Amino acid sequence: MLKNDLLLRAARGEETERTPVWLMRQAGRILPEYRALRARLSGFKELVETPDLAAEVTIQPVDALDVDAAIIFSDILVVPEAMGLTYEMIEARGPLFPETIKSAQDVARMRVADPEEHLGYVLEAIRVTKRALNGRVPLIGFAGAPWTILAYMVEGHGSKTFSKARRLLYTDPALAHELLRKITATTIAYLQAQVAAGANLIQVFDSWAGILPPDHYREFSSRYIAEICNALPDVPVTVFAKGAYFAVPEFATFNCRTIGLDWNEDPRAVRAAIGNEKTLQGNLDPCALYGSREQVQQATIDMLRRFGPHRHIANLGHGVYPDTDADNVRVFIDTVKEFSPMARQG
Ligand code: CP3
Repeated sequence: MLKNDLLLRAARGEETERTPVWLMRQAGRILPEYRALRARLSGFKELVETPDLAAEVTIQPVDALDVDAAIIFSDILVVPEAMGLTYEMIEARGPLFPETIKSAQDVARMRVADPEEHLGYVLEAIRVTKRALNGRVPLIGFAGAPWTILAYMVEGHGSKTFSKARRLLYTDPALAHELLRKITATTIAYLQAQVAAGANLIQVFDSWAGILPPDHYREFSSRYIAEICNALPDVPVTVFAKGAYFAVPEFATFNCRTIGLDWNEDPRAVRAAIGNEKTLQGNLDPCALYGSREQVQQATIDMLRRFGPHRHIANLGHGVYPDTDADNVRVFIDTVKEFSPMARQG
């Protein structure tokens, strides 16, 4: 059914003729066609909430960059909104929650969302995208990890420290768990619905994993990610927990196929630590794409060598920065396509 299933075969651990490649945040401001469409709209949320438009920008990088996967255009913050906490996306600043979670009553007011009722626009965007893609490449669905979602719900906006969110883990751990359980239940139903709508692979983003100490990470984050993985037995899952190098051996025991690495992590050390049972995804420093064409090629080849030819999905170590030259993104992608088949010949 899929004309290009490299991503899924690599995730399952099958040998592939070359390394598949896509980029986190590939649909977005790096593409002039995204900026043009976005400029005609009232804002980010209009794009996210209009399935035909979300599908259009999901497919833009498949056309413009020839990546091996599409990722549904949405945001992790649609989940708190579905639970009862609306977000705003402030131009050039980022997300803002006018109301935040401060008390037990606030947590009690949050609902476990029904995917069709509260997130139907994302599911419809997935269905429209699948029809339009017509099997060209797999479609990735996603959600935030419960800890990262809690962090935004409590803090209300991005932060270097998320100290309000981390404070809650010390002052009222029971309340934190109550909220995490509701987020987890919402996320499981939402991701199962994404799969039913046509998502071929699911990625869980724990963007704020790296700010927790390891004991808190196990207590307040990874166990909920494990629950999510267990609830999605029929689809490959990727766990990407930025900064949580200490948790990678634990992820290696989860019911997931792929572990995403950020650019601080050493693929060789991870491979040596966890063995060959998981596929690894990543991990070029997004800033490497600010170099010259030759530097981008060399950095990409070095990255491919560190991972080796099998059980690797090429990507950056985090989302591509919006001011990256799209031509250098193409150099990254083309280098993976040209070099990785050669690397298989020894
Ligand atoms: O191409 C893709 O990867 C799919 C789309 C996608 C978006 N957000 C679109 C977006 C995905 C997978 C996300 C996930 C997301 N959103 C994460 C997890 C990944 C990560 O980066 O760690 C997080 C933490 C968010 C929350 C969020 N959304 C922030 C902090 C911001 C502001 C920063 C920024 O890049 O502007 C957003 C906004 C956002 N989400 C944009 C896009 C394309 C920019 C909005 C615009 O077009 O103006």
